[in-house]
Amino acid sequence: RSADRGAFSGRTAFIFAAIGSAVGLGNIWRFPAVAYENGGGAFILPYLVALLTAGIPLLFLDYAIGHRWRGSAPAAWRRFRRWTEFIGWWQVLIALIIALYYALILAWATNYTIFSFDQRWGDDADGFFGEYTQALGGADVTISFDVVPAVLISMIVVWLAVIIVMALGVQKGIAASSIVFIPLLLVMFVILVVRALFLPGAIDGLDALFTPNWGALLDPAVWIAAYGQIFFSLSVAFGIMLTYASYLKKKTDLTGSGLVVGFANSGFEILCGIGVFSALGFMAQAQGVAIDEVVTDGVGLAFIAFPTIISEAPAGALIGVLFFGSLVLAGFTSLISIVEVVIAAIQDKFGLARVPATLWVCLPLAVVSVALFSTTMGLPLLDVMDKWVNEYGIVAAALVSTIVVTYVVRGLPTLRDHLNHQGTFRIRTWWLVCVGGIAPIVLGTSLVLSTIELLTADDTYSGYPGWFVFVFGWLMAIGLVVIAIGLSLIPWPTGSNLFKDD
Ligand code: PHE
Ligand code: NA
Repeated sequence: RSADRGAFSGRTAFIFAAIGSAVGLGNIWRFPAVAYENGGGAFILPYLVALLTAGIPLLFLDYAIGHRWRGSAPAAWRRFRRWTEFIGWWQVLIALIIALYYALILAWATNYTIFSFDQRWGDDADGFFGEYTQALGGADVTISFDVVPAVLISMIVVWLAVIIVMALGVQKGIAASSIVFIPLLLVMFVILVVRALFLPGAIDGLDALFTPNWGALLDPAVWIAAYGQIFFSLSVAFGIMLTYASYLKKKTDLTGSGLVVGFANSGFEILCGIGVFSALGFMAQAQGVAIDEVVTDGVGLAFIAFPTIISEAPAGALIGVLFFGSLVLAGFTSLISIVEVVIAAIQDKFGLARVPATLWVCLPLAVVSVALFSTTMGLPLLDVMDKWVNEYGIVAAALVSTIVVTYVVRGLPTLRDHLNHQGTFRIRTWWLVCVGGIAPIVLGTSLVLSTIELLTADDTYSGYPGWFVFVFGWLMAIGLVVIAIGLSLIPWPTGSNLFKDD
């Protein structure tokens, strides 16, 4: 006999939780710059093609495996075929690594929401971020456990919030927080976009984003970028959507839900592009420079460009609270989805109840996350781990799963029938072509291209010492696969959820 795994109350709860996972930092700080750099307005074409031919099809694959085989990633993959269990553990380990550093970004965003009130960075956002994070940079990077107190406190707060939500369970914790946070995020972001649209220079920003460069469509790199953005943005092949689908009732319309999630995520992404580029247009005008000079993404966009905009714009405090508050909400609902992949696996493996499973996972995770990332090496560590876990974790895991499912196990027809059983949106042969053909080709190509790029670069990644990149990049990424295979060889206790019929 084993403890209850938990469940979503229904389709709406599931859809909100899935949107909560999908809508994250990728929408806010990744999409706008990717679109700008890859054809601007013309990017919409490869982007939509990628959404329809890979994003949504792989989302359906995740749903089908999790729902048909009803389990966390390792349990579902093991039920699929005994030997595919390692893919599940691989996804769990990837989730674990991401959770470690995602909490740091959330901690920064939380602090910056507060800093927005008095624009504490003054007129030097760049210098302030350096002082605030005390981050080691370039060749100075080394193993350091010098704690940065402001970051430490904020990280502890983030982890406490995560633990509370996770302990409340699938419905009362995960779904309930997404049902509150996602609409709130939308309202805050719409206000932010409207405010940004009325800033002087906003229109030039939008012009820069949307002016199509049709020639870019001939560049294969643009297409790879579109697929990369879609894979990351929809959180496919992370084990997240698989885990969430396992909490759905047997009779659920999976494909209809998937379409809602896919289009909601992309809709929000476009909204983010409008908001971010209006603000960047203003910044360029205020500084009298070309837009090109102010476009950045990631940490630089959020913690250096935006604070600068906030200082220069009228009613900056409002913009700041809306922007950083949005980052916190979007990031938090993604973080809990990542942590759930790990909790669900441990819960299934040991047949644990919700609260003990939460504590067994989150306490060690929180301690390691805080110990490693609230230090002066936090930022470089995040930088390297994020690069490798994305490029070699997720892309490789997605590639392996599509090939295994399609060609080794030949399981796609069964999964298609499962999806069609209750689905309002019928899946036909095109789905097999996307999952078994297009997705592996694109994933494989991007894996090869990024490997060539990393190995032939003149400098080490971000100028960090070679050993640092080797240990926390390559070794970490390869280590995950080895550990995953090891974990898949460990027998499941008789009290585990694997032997439970529900
Ligand atoms: N899909 C999220 C986004 O677009 C990112 C994410 C990554 C979410 C990993 C969960 C896990 O930002
Ligand atoms: Na997203």
